[in-house]
Amino acid sequence: MDRARSRAPLLAAAAILLLAMASAPLAATSEPEENVDNASLQQPPVAPGLSFDFYRRSCPRAETIVRDFVKDAVRRDIGLAAGLLRLHFHDCFVQGCDASVLLDGSATGPGEQQAPPNLTLRPSAFKAINDIRDRLERECRGPVVSCSDILALAARDSVVFSGGPSYPVPLGRRDSAHFATPQDVLSGLPAPSSTVPGLLNVVRRIGLDEADLVALSGGHTIGLAHCSSFEDRLFPRPDPTISPSFLGQLKNTCPAKGVDRRRELDFRTPNRFDNKYYVNLVNREGLFVSDQDLFTNGATRNIVGRFAQSQKDFFRQFGVSMVKMGQINVLTGSQGQIRRNCSARNPGTVPWSDVLVEAAAESLGLF
Ligand SMILES: *[C@@H]1O[C@H](CO)[C@@H](O)[C@H](O)[C@H]1NC(C)=O
Ligand SMILES: *[C@@H]1O[C@H](CO)[C@@H](O)[C@H](O)[C@H]1NC(C)=O
Ligand SMILES: *[C@@H]1O[C@H](CO)[C@@H](O)[C@H](O)[C@H]1NC(C)=O
Repeated sequence: MDRARSRAPLLAAAAILLLAMASAPLAATSEPEENVDNASLQQPPVAPGLSFDFYRRSCPRAETIVRDFVKDAVRRDIGLAAGLLRLHFHDCFVQGCDASVLLDGSATGPGEQQAPPNLTLRPSAFKAINDIRDRLERECRGPVVSCSDILALAARDSVVFSGGPSYPVPLGRRDSAHFATPQDVLSGLPAPSSTVPGLLNVVRRIGLDEADLVALSGGHTIGLAHCSSFEDRLFPRPDPTISPSFLGQLKNTCPAKGVDRRRELDFRTPNRFDNKYYVNLVNREGLFVSDQDLFTNGATRNIVGRFAQSQKDFFRQFGVSMVKMGQINVLTGSQGQIRRNCSARNPGTVPWSDVLVEAAAESLGLF
C-alpha cells in the first residue's frame, strides 16, 4: 500500500484543523487583565464531531459519575491523580486521543508497561478507567461512553481534585481498534533528557506551541519519577544547571547510578496541582532536563517566569492547552468503536481503516 499517498489528505485535514485550533486561543496571552477569569473567551474551537453536551440524551449523568468516582479515588490515593493525568497525555501524544494507551497489547498498554521510553504508567490508573467504564455501562444501560472520553474526563477531574483548574471537556471521541506500536511510542514520546528544540519539534508537529509545551509540562506539579529518568544529570558529573542544594537532595534519593527509587516531580508541593513546578524551574530545581531546559532556553523562559509569578496565568493556559491536546486526531461519528472493555478491542470488530490511524501515529509526542 502506498502509505505516504493515502495519508496525505488526512494529514492535510488534520493540519487545517490544528491550525484553526491554534489561531483562536493564543490571543489569550494578550487579553486585558479584566478578562483573566473568563475561561470561555480563551477556549479553543471544538473539533468537528465533538460537543460539550454529547451525552445529554444518551447518558446525562456521565460527567457526574466520572467526577464522583475520581473524587473518591483521589481522596483515597492522591497518587492516582498523577496516574490518570499521565494516561490521558500518553493517549493523546501517541496515535491521538483514541484510548489506544489502554489496550492490552499496545506498546503503552498494561501488557507492555516496560516499553521504552519507560512510561511507568500506574496499573491502578488503568483499573480505575475500567471501573468507571463499568459503572457508566450500568448507569447508561449499555456501552455509550467511550474509553477515550473517560480518559479525558478523568484527567480533568484529577486536576480539579488535586487543587488545579477546571475546564470544559468536549466529548464524543471514539475508541481505536488499533494498538500503538513500540515505534509509535518511541517517536511520540521524547525522553526526559530532551531539550527545548527537540520538545518543540514534537509539539509543533501536532499543532501545539511554546505556551502549550510549557503549560502541559506543568502536569509535573504532581506525581513521581524514577531515578533512571534523571540520573544522567547526576553521574558521572552533575549537570551545572542544577542548584547545589537541590543536587544534594537528588543524590540523597539516588546515591548512585542504577538505584531503583522514586522522587517527587515537584518537591515543594508534590501532591498539589499548583504553579510551584515553575517556581522550582526558576530556582534551578527542575527534575528532568526536559523540565529545567524550559527555563534555560530563551524560547520558553519568559513563559516559565510568567507562570511562576501568576498561578492564574498558568491555570488559564493549562485549560486551553488541555482542550487543544485532548482533540488531537480524535475519532468521531462512525469511526472506531465504543469499547466494551477499555483493555481490549470489541470482539468481532474489523479493525477500522488503517489509514487515519497510521497518519495519526506518525506525529505525536511528549510525556
Ligand atoms: C465571558 O465571555 C463570554 C463569551 O464572549 C461572554 O458571553 C460572557 O458574558 C463572559 N463572562 C464574563 C463573566 O465576563
Ligand atoms: C527503560 O527502558 C530501557 C529500554 O527498554 C530499559 O533498558 C530500562 O531498564 C528501562 N528502565 C526502567 C526503569 O524500566
Ligand atoms: C478485558 O480485557 C482484558 C485484556 O484482554 C482481559 O484481561 C480482561 O479480563 C477483560 N475484562 C473483562 C471484564 O472481560
